[in-house]
Amino acid sequence: MSEKRLAGRKAVVTGAARGIGEAIARRLASEGASVAIADIDLAEAEAVAASLPDAVAAQVDIASDASVAALADFVGDRLGGCDILVNNAAILDMTGIETMTMAHYRKVLDINQDGAVRATLSLLPLIKAAKGPRRIVNIASIMGVRGQPESVPYSAAKGAIVNFTRAVAADLGRHGITVNAIAPGFIDTRMAHLPDGSGHEHDTDWFKDIYLKYGRILLGRAGRPEDIAGPVYFLCSDDAAYVTGQILLVDGGVSATF
Ligand SMILES: NC(=O)c1ccc[n+]([C@@H]2O[C@H](COP(=O)([O-])OP(=O)(O)OC[C@H]3O[C@@H](n4cnc5c(N)ncnc54)[C@H](O)[C@@H]3O)[C@@H](O)[C@H]2O)c1
Repeated sequence: MSEKRLAGRKAVVTGAARGIGEAIARRLASEGASVAIADIDLAEAEAVAASLPDAVAAQVDIASDASVAALADFVGDRLGGCDILVNNAAILDMTGIETMTMAHYRKVLDINQDGAVRATLSLLPLIKAAKGPRRIVNIASIMGVRGQPESVPYSAAKGAIVNFTRAVAADLGRHGITVNAIAPGFIDTRMAHLPDGSGHEHDTDWFKDIYLKYGRILLGRAGRPEDIAGPVYFLCSDDAAYVTGQILLVDGGVSATF
């Protein structure tokens, strides 16, 4: 039997207690990686870690310098290093420019933008010290490459993640560390639940009309977390050894047309 392709690799996935992050963690684990399930929600992170062969749960608030620094110490102790970092944790907080306050804007950026910067800075010494192929994958969004109404802080943060990815790739290429981003489209997770608790955005008339009836999603359905986990695995695999500084839109084709 052939060895699993990520055997011996140590991965940290932020926001891995549910949704896309959980699917990424499960995929990397299924390919043989040891995975730190890093999330603000420790109970859910522990449940995911307990269901995987070689995973540890870690509580982290990516909005806190101290918490992210503690995560790096924990990962060094418990995993013994880090070859793969997936910056996935974020919140969805939709606000337009006419109603937004600076406090609100800063709060979202502190998690969705600075959180990935913090985790990258804190884990970089471990990643640089690792010997094999090393990977950083940032989870951006189609809202980081396209505008959408009522999305100023989220879209601004995701746009920053897109070019953060390219700039960090430019710095780390000489170490052989690849840095790429995935920009998901509409994925069926708790993040896609409507804020008023009335259901799921994919069940709304506007979603069905614009994205399905008029074919904006070329593949005719919302994405599943596993649709993102596969491309993340690809970027972490040896097959992507010569891919860096790239933004891969995984959106069922939404961004391919207008
Ligand atoms: N669901 C979508 O349609 C969609 C589309 C584009 C991009 N994305 C991006 O994909 C990523 C995952 O989203 P999801 O849909 O799985 O969302 P989700 O809300 O289901 O999961 C997000 C996870 O991040 C964790 N988290 C939130 N704040 C945190 C913090 N401060 N510190 C640590 N962990 C924290 C949550 O506890 C949760 O486990 C996010 O970066 C999101 O912006 C999602």
